Amino acid sequence: MSVIVVSGTGTEIGKTVVTAAVASVFRARGRSVAVVKPAQTGLAAGEPGDVAEVARLAGAVTGVELARFPEPLAPATAARRAGMAAVRPHEVAEAVEKLAAEHDLVLVEGAGGLLVRFDEDGASLADVAGLLGAPVLVVAPAGLGTLNAVALTAEALRARELEQLGVVVGSWPGRPDLAARCNLADLPEAAGAPLLGAVPEGAGALAPAEFRARAGSWLAPRLGGEWDAEAFAAAVR
Ligand SMILES: Nc1ncnc2c1ncn2[C@@H]1O[C@H](COP(=O)(O)OP(=O)(O)OP(=O)(O)O)[C@@H](O)[C@H]1O
Ligand SMILES: [Mg+2]
Repeated sequence: MSVIVVSGTGTEIGKTVVTAAVASVFRARGRSVAVVKPAQTGLAAGEPGDVAEVARLAGAVTGVELARFPEPLAPATAARRAGMAAVRPHEVAEAVEKLAAEHDLVLVEGAGGLLVRFDEDGASLADVAGLLGAPVLVVAPAGLGTLNAVALTAEALRARELEQLGVVVGSWPGRPDLAARCNLADLPEAAGAPLLGAVPEGAGALAPAEFRARAGSWLAPRLGGEWDAEAFAAAVR
């Protein structure tokens, strides 16, 4: 059993698509996968959320959403405004541990970036990772501005003595600009952790069968794929 906490530098940067890619690769190896979204915001009851998107792209995964708040806000704020109970890290950790006993891999996708608040006490996904003793995968954008956000996230992880698995670029552009190309070398420096993949822009729009067939080529061996950082950087130079 193993658990990976999927966080990132912010919202809308590809955490769900990366989660689906990792799930696809493990599924293709015959491993059982569960995906947990502790707090889904910005959706009404019945609308497909991130868990549904991962299942659509990756196929048979156990999907669990622990809380849903209708407004597209940080979970703590959205819960307060909706008059609903906030998500508590120990509840998330308990749910994940239960799933981890029954699956080969559990992926936990945060809402927004690492320190976004789950509750009024300031708890965040970082507390969940701490309770679980699970490594954190950081999803980041490709281009200008990502180095600072990745460095800040890495510093926050180190301050909490959390393990950073590495960085995955959530959406690698078809025509990478100078900043994106240079970031392939600079991101591991900023993170103090390896670059573990790059999911191409548009991957989320692929037919699920193609997404699953290609996912391994976007992720490094540490994430079950065959992506090679050096070869990738050489090819786009
Ligand atoms: N590689 C990609 N290919 C295609 N679409 C992508 C890719 N990365 C991101 N997107 C699109 O960008 C949007 C945001 O991506 P995604 O849902 O993965 O973000 P997120 O980081 O999970 O955000 P949140 O904090 O809301 O969970 C989605 O509409 C998604 O389809
Ligand atoms: Mg998401």
